[in-house]
Amino acid sequence: KKIAIFASGTGTNFVALTKAIQQQHLPVTVSLLVCDHEDAQVLQRAAELKVPIFVINFKAYPNKAAAEQAILDQLAKAEVTAILLAGYMRIIGPTLLGAYTNKILNIHPALLPNFPGAHGIEDAFKAGVKTTGVTVHYIDAAVDSGPIIAQKAVPILAEDTLATLEARIHETEHQLYPAVLADLIKKGDL
Ligand code: GRF
Repeated sequence: KKIAIFASGTGTNFVALTKAIQQQHLPVTVSLLVCDHEDAQVLQRAAELKVPIFVINFKAYPNKAAAEQAILDQLAKAEVTAILLAGYMRIIGPTLLGAYTNKILNIHPALLPNFPGAHGIEDAFKAGVKTTGVTVHYIDAAVDSGPIIAQKAVPILAEDTLATLEARIHETEHQLYPAVLADLIKKGDL
């Protein structure tokens, strides 16, 4: 099985997934990193882990469909059958969704449907809830929606700052995402 990971930024989830696949000998290969920022830190991490990279510059294409078609061409060449979004800061359009229906996963740093959007950790912290968490879900056409596969709760402690909460959420992400991947592969669902 060959998968692609899409990321825009730091890439800690990319590293957690790629290392878990290697260490647990999961029958899957990260065949491509798709990244939409030429200076993202994740690119260096992919180079270190010897994962092939495709950098996509959306501005170089007339529209989103054309850019996604360029991504699709690379995915086809790499024989990718599933996509894991890991901090990919763009909405997936109909071109990719149509080609990979029920084959695109995302991780979100809150307990969806609560606190969707780009600031899930901060929004939960500011709202004063006592529990937040991490969600892995299939994606559909809307933002941070689509069937939930797994969730893990993370308590917000009285002494937490946004930074300590962020650290705990990320640690949880790095455990949950590889565990969900392993589970889906075992069940033949990916
Ligand atoms: C993660 O918190 C993920 O849930 C969110 O974006 C962040 C990406 O972090 N969608 P990283 O690039 O994997 O370090």
